[in-house]
Amino acid sequence: MNLLIIGSGAREHSFAWKIFNSKHNIKIFVTNPNAGISKISFCVDVDINDFVSVKKTIITHSIDIVLIGPEIPLINGISDFIQNDETLKHVSVIGPSQRGSMLEGSKEFAKNFMAKYSIPTASYKSFSKSTFDQAVRFINKNTPPYVLKADGPAAGKGVIIVNDPDEAVKNLEAMLLNSKFGKSSEKVVIEEFLSGIEMSCFVLFDGKNYKILPYAKDYKRIGEGDTGLNTGGMGSISPVDFLDENLKTNIKEQIIEPTIHGLMSEKINYVGFIFIGLINVDGQPKVIEYNVRMGDPETQVVLPRIKNDFMELLISCTNQTLDKVNLEFDSDYYTNIVLASGGYPEDYKKGFKISGLNEVKDSIIFHAGTNLNNNNIVTSGGRVLSVVSSGKTMKEALEKSYNNIDKINFEGKTFRKDIGFDL
Ligand code: AMP
Ligand code: GLY
Repeated sequence: MNLLIIGSGAREHSFAWKIFNSKHNIKIFVTNPNAGISKISFCVDVDINDFVSVKKTIITHSIDIVLIGPEIPLINGISDFIQNDETLKHVSVIGPSQRGSMLEGSKEFAKNFMAKYSIPTASYKSFSKSTFDQAVRFINKNTPPYVLKADGPAAGKGVIIVNDPDEAVKNLEAMLLNSKFGKSSEKVVIEEFLSGIEMSCFVLFDGKNYKILPYAKDYKRIGEGDTGLNTGGMGSISPVDFLDENLKTNIKEQIIEPTIHGLMSEKINYVGFIFIGLINVDGQPKVIEYNVRMGDPETQVVLPRIKNDFMELLISCTNQTLDKVNLEFDSDYYTNIVLASGGYPEDYKKGFKISGLNEVKDSIIFHAGTNLNNNNIVTSGGRVLSVVSSGKTMKEALEKSYNNIDKINFEGKTFRKDIGFDL
């Protein structure tokens, strides 16, 4: 069987690694792979948002299953494109339709969906250019902090939280009137500020049946103690200790089941991952956001914990037999420390040689921004590597990752030394 993975970061490296270890004989193709992925897969050079080129790739390599990593091709409709094409009818896709992808592609759509299916989330109101004055009145009537969200995708930068009402209005003006995020900020959702600890919930859905994957927690800020700028994610941990059975039951009954019910009631074509960003507000879980894909850097700790053959899991998704699968998880702790380029998430330089990878023991290294240059592995992105380890305790797992990080070097190597500090 031939499988094509769309995407080329550490999340996709984790997918490829997990499928590489399947007992099935799978030929893995990955789009524009980094230095780590290319060791275990065949490379296809293709612009993942150019669907005609993706189609050519699928035909050339007789692809049977396409697994889509990042959100943008999904929001652009790659899943429908493949499924509606006469010549690609036999190809299975793990990734929701364009309509399903609006759960991530439009905050307003997601909020309306949650309201309709009584899924707990922050209260909100949505505004556009023509209702700018109402939005200003709404801000002045409410108390800080103000949470402003660009409706569309904005590479993780579309959420602005400020305390000062004047600053909130300034940001609103930039988004609604001056197209700060282009089309993505033609609408803005203003919502209630929620306070609590965040966690990531992952659900695999075959369109009829669903399975809950291991919970994880990610660390988004660049600085220790969760300070400084937001990044794509500087580390992650699974399992999440504060999640007790009671909270898990609440999440399942109040959030996951109504989400699945909503997708089915709306007749939304959805086969793939649902990533629910949650916040625990005094024991009451609420949805911060939906994503229509797996999380990065969470995938790097979630997938190693799944004991099942991952390819079988994907296949059961494509033939709607997920209900027959008995999911089993490793109860050990998995930790992921991200090594980033100096300067990230702002400007950074690339092309630095990475040394010491061969000396790593007892950790899995997933590559993100790496490239091969004259047989050397060099940095080629903001987030460079994920160093993943396991242990009977979180501390043991973290120690392994940090010990191995000492052996890996490249100019500007940056990482957080406090992953897991709050657990
Ligand atoms: P999002 O892109 O919606 O996940 O938002 C990015 C981050 O902003 C989240 O991970 C939260 O830390 C924060 N955030 C989003 N919405 C809220 C909210 N209503 N209250 C508090 N923090 C929020
Ligand atoms: N870890 C958050 C994300 O993947 O969006």
